[in-house]
Parts: sequence; C-alpha cells; structure tokens
Amino acid sequence: MKTVLVTGGAGFIGSNFLLYLAKKYPSYRLLNLDKLTYAGNLENLKEIEERKNYRFIRGDIADSAVVGKVFAEEEIDWVVNFAAESHVDRSILMPALFVRTNIMGTANLLNAALNRWEGAWEDKRFLQISTDEVYGSLGETGYFTETTPLDPHTPYAASKAGADLLVKAYHDTYGLPVIISRCTNNYGPYQFPEKLIPLVINNALHRKKLPVYGDGLQIRDWLYVEDHCKALDLILHRGKTGEVYNIGGHNERTNLSVVRTVISYLREHVDPGISEALIAFVPDRKGHDFRYGIDPAKICNELGWRPETPFAEGIVRTIRWYLENRDWLERVTAGEYQEYYRRVYEGR
Ligand code: NAD
Ligand code: DAU
Repeated sequence: MKTVLVTGGAGFIGSNFLLYLAKKYPSYRLLNLDKLTYAGNLENLKEIEERKNYRFIRGDIADSAVVGKVFAEEEIDWVVNFAAESHVDRSILMPALFVRTNIMGTANLLNAALNRWEGAWEDKRFLQISTDEVYGSLGETGYFTETTPLDPHTPYAASKAGADLLVKAYHDTYGLPVIISRCTNNYGPYQFPEKLIPLVINNALHRKKLPVYGDGLQIRDWLYVEDHCKALDLILHRGKTGEVYNIGGHNERTNLSVVRTVISYLREHVDPGISEALIAFVPDRKGHDFRYGIDPAKICNELGWRPETPFAEGIVRTIRWYLENRDWLERVTAGEYQEYYRRVYEGR
C-alpha cells in the first residue's frame, strides 16, 4: 500500500496516469494536487472521483503554504510531479508564469518532501516528470541520451531544465531520493487542443485552417500516452533513485506528415470535405526546435520497457476518442481558449 501524491493530475498525462494507477493498484491512496488552470479538468477523472482512497486537493504548487499543508496532512510515500505550464507557445507569451509554476512549484515540492521525510526516506520517491525539450534540438541524425548536455531554447524548456537541475541538486546535496524521467511528445485522450494533434482534429472538424509552423518539416518523436504511463509505473516501482530515464518509442515524424495522417482519417471516416486544402503554412514559432529523438536504450535494457502502441493504431484511437467526446472538446475550447487562439494565430 502506498500513498502517492500526483500533482497536475487533472491535466492530460496526469489524468491518464491517475486512471492507470487506480486500475492497476486499487489499494493505493491517490492524492491529486492541481490548481485547475485552463489545462486541468476534473471531468477527466469521473471514473475515480467517488473512490474512498482518492482525494482531490485544489491548490497551487507555487504556494509553499498549500504544499506544506498537504504534506502535513498526509503520509506521502511517493511524489509524481506532473504539474506544470506545458505549452511552448504560451511560454513565449508569458515566460514568468512558467518560471513560477515549473521552477518555484518544483522547489516547494522538494522542500516539503525534504522537511517532512527528514532523512527517513528509504522507501520514498520523488519522480520529476520532465521532457526531451531540455536537451535542445537535434540535426538530421543522432539521439538524446541521459547524458546529453541540457541546452533548452524556449522559456518552457528552460523552466523544465531549471526544475530538473533543482531536483538533481536536492539529490546531490541532501540525498533526497529523486528520479527524473524525460519523455518525447505524447498523444492520446484528454490532450488539450492547443497541442498539434488535438488542435488539428478540432480545427478540421470545424473546417478551419490547419496552421503548420514554418515548412512543417520539423520532427517530433510521438508516444501514445498509455505507453508513457507504463514507463512511469516501471520507473516509480523499479527505477534507481538519483537516475534519469529517457522515454521514447523511435516514432519520428514530420509535423506535416502527422497533420496529413489526421486529415486522411477524418476525410475517409467523417467528412469528405476535410482535405489538405485546409493546411495553412504560417510563420514559424520563435525558438522552434528542429528535431527531437530519444534513445530509450536505458529504460528498455534496465527496466524491460517497450512501447506497445504503433502510431497507426494510437492515432486512430486518439481521433476516435475526440470524435466520441465532442462535447468535451466543445467545453474546453469555449472561453479562455478563444482568446488564446486569437493571440497566437490571428494575423499569423
Ligand atoms: P497539461 O498542461 O495538460 O496539464 C498540466 C496540469 O498541471 C493541469 O491539470 C494544470 O491545472 C496543472 N497545473 C498547472 N499549474 C499548476 C500549479 N501551479 N499548481 C498545481 N497544478 C498546476 O500538461 P501535460 O501535457 O499533461 O504535461 C504534464 C507534465 O508532463 C508536464 O510537466 C510536462 O512538462 C511533461 N511532459 C509533457 C509531454 C507532452 O507531450 N504533453 C511530454 C513530456 C513531458
Ligand atoms: O517533446 C515533449 C514536449 O512535447 C512536451 O514537453 C511539451 O509539454 C508538449 O507541449 C510538446 O511540445 P511541442 O512544442 O513539441 O508540442 P506541440 O503540440 O505544441 O507542437 C508539436 C509540433 O507541431 C511542434 O514542432 C510545433 C508544431 N505546431 C504546433 C502547433 C500547436 C504547428 O506546426 N502548428 C501548431 O498550431
């Protein structure tokens, strides 16, 4: 029996992970600390909200009093820190918010764990959910390994790299039992439609322009979110503290090919009027990294992880999920989203 504090559990990956943990480890006590920003949605967690051993706490990880209270009230064994401002385009508009949540928030969690666990941490774990973006950008060849130097280019990536360095420092200085995971681009159910795949699905369903930054030839390494959750499960239970684990499935695609895959499915199954004519090449994102690609050898060899969902299957599951949950899509794109969309895309 473990008590696991999941932060950001109402977001895309956090809610997939909570649902996964609840199913696989029904005896675990699951705490979800989430501020419910535009990206957090308790609807995602309907399946588990009535469970006795699940507790939702609305709160900001950047508020040390909130974090301290949660640690005082609960006997926390493991922390899994998903909570973050996660979208690169927003970080270009408001970098300070990313520093506050991603760096200060992580510092508060580390401090609370350090103070509450007081060195009695043989079975404790602090898993920091990081990203391949901290490594910067690759050229046509090569992969990021766990020892690739950090070289972030956007405020989002820099804030995640800053958090990673703090996590490492708490291990090196105090011996706090931390682990860092760095994953490639996720896709799947509950992803907020500011990210490429759900944005394209949503726009296409409304026959709106599909904005492709620059020439669309940038490359991302896509992983189905459930495969990420399985990797995190292994890391949490069997990973070595003080270590970094890269997660990726060798599934590199250009942005343009991802957009074309979505169009082709929707044209065949939903609306013959959805075509490549909707693609609009728009001015590039500032600081846009050309290519990400993870070498997952360490997690494969040491923990026996394998990506299980081929892209052809994962993308169909994802598109169908959005088709079956159009009311969810409508709700999350009402309100604040409209203003955000105007700021990022209008006049581009
Ligand atoms: P998301 O934006 O969908 O969700 C973020 C969640 O954090 C939301 O529920 C939000 O309400 C919450 N949150 C934001 N600020 C908070 C604060 N100050 N206090 C408490 N809660 C707060 O993000 P996501 O895509 O699910 O990403 C989750 C984590 O995984 C992030 O740390 C991100 O950097 C990392 N990551 C994401 C990807 C990806 O492809 N999406 C890949 C690798 C790593
Ligand atoms: O690599 C992991 C990262 O993946 C995570 O750390 C981030 O939290 C997550 O947001 C994601 O970052 P990206 O910037 O790669 O994801 P996004 O979906 O925003 O963009 C994917 C690619 O598509 C990127 O090259 C930019 C491009 N793009 C994106 C949008 C939203 C477009 O061409 N048009 C768009 O409208």
